[in-house]
Amino acid sequence: MANHRHFFNRKLHSLLGVVPIGAFLFIHLLTNYYATRGEAAFLDRVKIMEGLPFLALVELVFIFLPLLYHAIFGLYIAFQAKNNVGNYGYFRNVMFMLQRVTGVITLIFVAWHVWETKIQLVMGTTQATGLFKLMNEILASPFMLAFYIVGLLSAVFHFSNGLWSFAVSWGITIGPRSQRISTYVTMVIFVLMSVMGLMALFAFAHPVDVAQAIQP
Ligand code: HEM
Repeated sequence: MANHRHFFNRKLHSLLGVVPIGAFLFIHLLTNYYATRGEAAFLDRVKIMEGLPFLALVELVFIFLPLLYHAIFGLYIAFQAKNNVGNYGYFRNVMFMLQRVTGVITLIFVAWHVWETKIQLVMGTTQATGLFKLMNEILASPFMLAFYIVGLLSAVFHFSNGLWSFAVSWGITIGPRSQRISTYVTMVIFVLMSVMGLMALFAFAHPVDVAQAIQP
């Protein structure tokens, strides 16, 4: 019975990492990417998001609660540190360890990032229209820029490498060949999402005046 419950928790934890949390991470980075086109383009995207019906409820049910569950159960798994990957080679063992380390770094980063942005919006100390300036001010500090780079790369690595183990645990990639192809695919996902996220961070930190930039 306890084993059944543990199996169910593992499956739920695994699924939530991809949908909805992973899907949210992708949409979030895509929204931020608009910052590379200037403040107005980014704020237009934010306005579309803010206009979605029942936003607060959707965020609670589809982002906050799944993340809370995934993080709490993830900490339990990470610190239980049961090494059950004897069947895999050195590379996969390192990835297994990095999956846990990046989970913990991502948790610290996300908690701080949500406090600095979402909670300030809810408390009314900042407005949605001031989000670009807020990020610009935060990232003006080299320490915070470095913290955001580490947090972003951790979250993206955790998601991409997590997709690899998701595919194994849900029986999508069974043999060594499919698992090798999946390693390449998830590495490409890691690179693309990292570039997208880093470009947004640097756009917030050093905004270009789009109107001036396109003038001859
Ligand atoms: C941006 C937020 C996050 C995303 C997108 C995410 C996504 C994922 C994905 C896709 C997996 C793979 C599921 C599987 O192995 O089948 C996973 C696994 C894992 N996550 Fe997360 N996660 C996030 C945050 C966290 C946090 C905050 C923790 C807390 C420490 C955490 C801990 C773990 C652990 C320990 C595993 C490995 C599970 C295992 O090997 O069985 N994750 N995550």
